[in-house]
Amino acid sequence: MRKKIVAGNWKMNNDYNEGVSLFSEIVNMVRDEKKGDQIAVICAPFIHLNSLAQLSSGVVKIGAQNCHQNESGAYTGEISAKMIKSTGAEYVIIGHSERRQYFAENNQLLAEKTVTALQNNLVPIFCIGETLDERNNGSYFNVIESQLEEGVFGLSAEDFAKVVLAYEPVWAIGTGLTATPEQAQDIHAFIRSKVEAKYGVNAADDTTILYGGSCNAKNAPELFAQADIDGGLIGGASLKSRDFTDIVKALN
Ligand code: G3H
Repeated sequence: MRKKIVAGNWKMNNDYNEGVSLFSEIVNMVRDEKKGDQIAVICAPFIHLNSLAQLSSGVVKIGAQNCHQNESGAYTGEISAKMIKSTGAEYVIIGHSERRQYFAENNQLLAEKTVTALQNNLVPIFCIGETLDERNNGSYFNVIESQLEEGVFGLSAEDFAKVVLAYEPVWAIGTGLTATPEQAQDIHAFIRSKVEAKYGVNAADDTTILYGGSCNAKNAPELFAQADIDGGLIGGASLKSRDFTDIVKALN
């Protein structure tokens, strides 16, 4: 059964106290709005994870924004999937375009991170999406297909079933330029068709595909009404409890 998810990505925002206080507000507000099978997640900086997990009362799940590809070792400053899991977090974003762009993370590395996350019972939220140049030169279907093939299509069907995909056109992230519902739906349908070709129709039907990129309380209802859009990965608007809650409310 395909899950409906709204996941907030706080990115590098909120110090410890700000994060705890914002998360407490979010839990109280989302508790009243979320319907039974819908899932709300906040992907916070590492320093928040354990405290947020204790405050979550199961209403809002916790995720990290990255993990290392190795289980442990001499990687100063890095955080492992096992460490993340031990905080009570259940999700981890992998392959966000900011990681691809600023930290040179490529599909091969992201495939390793995905495997490590799964081995530690974390749900990977695997991000794909094209840059503005790739959109303009028409190569975006190929780019997205390679991200899928090299990033997650090496997984067994059993493991792939645990992955959440997030389509985030890079040109829409933090720019206020949202993809139109039709543009987003086109790509989501394309992604689902590729999943079907690889893993079959039932797997494709069950795959949760989130949209991310300037998604807000105003445009979320129309985006989430599209047949292949199963929720959102929310940046800026997840930093405000009312906005984030209204986006959760927009899940149909
Ligand atoms: O992970 C979230 C995305 O980067 C979207 O960010 O909602 O601020 O555009 P945004």
